Amino acid sequence: MPARPGGRRSPVIDHFNHLKLKESDIMAKAKITFTDIDQTVNVPAGTRVIEVSEKIGAGIIYGCREGDCGTCMMHVEEGWNNLTEPSVLEEKVLRENMASRHDRLACQAQILGDCRVKPA
Ligand code: FES
Repeated sequence: MPARPGGRRSPVIDHFNHLKLKESDIMAKAKITFTDIDQTVNVPAGTRVIEVSEKIGAGIIYGCREGDCGTCMMHVEEGWNNLTEPSVLEEKVLRENMASRHDRLACQAQILGDCRVKPA
């Protein structure tokens, strides 16, 4: 990625670097399917699941959107490894909410590749 005038990189690239995403991840597209409404959407890699769910009217409900309340728990049917790793806070909230093995918080999980999800 070329540097901006003055030697600074884009704040967007800095943000994705902070999230430990590679440049190829940023430019990539991925497909996410919400099986409760049978809708598949192409999204830029790095998009949070809740943003897409809300936009297309899937059934994943939410509260805080900060990974704190556990309301947005979803079940990942396929593509578990195509989401960003859960943070320590997300793992704690999932444990507190007795999540099953492939449940995630839709407000925290970012899409890196194709996946299929539904409300938990
Ligand atoms: S909306 Fe509260 S944890 Fe996701």
